[in-house]
Amino acid sequence: MRKHRVAVIPGDGVGPEVIREGAKVLEAVSEKVGDITFEFSYFPWGCEYYLKNGKMMPENGIKKLEKFEAIYLGAIGDPRVPDHISLRELLLKIRFSFDQYINLRPIKLLEGVSCPLKNKGAKDIDFVVVRENTEGFYTGVGGRHKRGSSEYNRLAKIKKTFAESEEIVTQMGVFSSEGVERVIRYSFELARKRKKHLTCCTKSNALNYSMVYWDEVFRKISEEYPDVKTDFAFVDAICMWFIKNPEFFDVIVAPNLFGDIITDLGAMIQGGMGLAPGGNINPNGISMFEPIHGSAPKYTGKNVIDPIATIWAAQMMLEELGENEAARMIMNAIGKVLREGRIRTKDLGGTSKTDEVGDAIAEEVVKKGVRKL
Ligand code: IPM
Ligand code: MN
Repeated sequence: MRKHRVAVIPGDGVGPEVIREGAKVLEAVSEKVGDITFEFSYFPWGCEYYLKNGKMMPENGIKKLEKFEAIYLGAIGDPRVPDHISLRELLLKIRFSFDQYINLRPIKLLEGVSCPLKNKGAKDIDFVVVRENTEGFYTGVGGRHKRGSSEYNRLAKIKKTFAESEEIVTQMGVFSSEGVERVIRYSFELARKRKKHLTCCTKSNALNYSMVYWDEVFRKISEEYPDVKTDFAFVDAICMWFIKNPEFFDVIVAPNLFGDIITDLGAMIQGGMGLAPGGNINPNGISMFEPIHGSAPKYTGKNVIDPIATIWAAQMMLEELGENEAARMIMNAIGKVLREGRIRTKDLGGTSKTDEVGDAIAEEVVKKGVRKL
């Protein structure tokens, strides 16, 4: 019997609703397989917690999470708390504290899901974005200088001709050699397991230090992987290619901010935010799995949000825990329910409720078990 201890943070908005369905499907896997069990420990952290306690998680929150094999997260964000506080103090704090330097985001259009791109189908959209997850523009290095100086000017009755404010703001892109190298290396290894094609997504035509450096490291590491075909694409061009020729891609490696942006576009070509999962991975440590969508406050409690992204994130968690067969069961069940098309939420043109989709996938797991796609 293998017992997996998972920390669950349902979070805000629709987070708890989608996490409930993910946990339901994991329970179904456990029931079907027989020798896997999950011990879920729930942590009620998030914006409600912040409004009561003035922080997003307790002081020793990270310490508490250290005891688990993986973290399963719903969504974070609430209009009553500024996003840069709620997200930096919970989501990004976990990503950084556990050095989850890989943000793995599969972009795969499943059969039965309609694609907004003309003449593209499931066979055309099947790639993975590996987003650097601990550096770049996300480190919070920078500052605001001469903040409020306009107020001083007003009080001192100094007239400024052009600008109201003299404020100077910097936000640095941070790229360590270790940070760049490890994400690129991971991507080459991943490409080796797939179609052996890796695209380096940067912007080295404009960002002459950071992105030129990134490309250099990429080139150097590529020498160790002569079997992997490589190319370079600027982030703006990648946006164009996602729409025009998504079938070109296999694995893409991108810095943090670019990876964030292109995976929202990726989500749309795979059928929408309701179908886009992500894994924040530390290959030697504790990883966290989540849907890439947000907390969607206006749908909270309505039981209408698509839980598939979150269920798919559970599938990624199983893969990372080495439970490949169980992971395949979930993927097969998601595939079957989408192919049949009988039960689907509003985002996919259906009328089913969040829990009905979770029930259908869980039932499929229990019914079918492991089966080749
Ligand atoms: C994501 C999200 C986060 C990010 C936000 C909420 C901080 O957009 O996971 O893609 O930018 O990483
Ligand atoms: Mn994002």
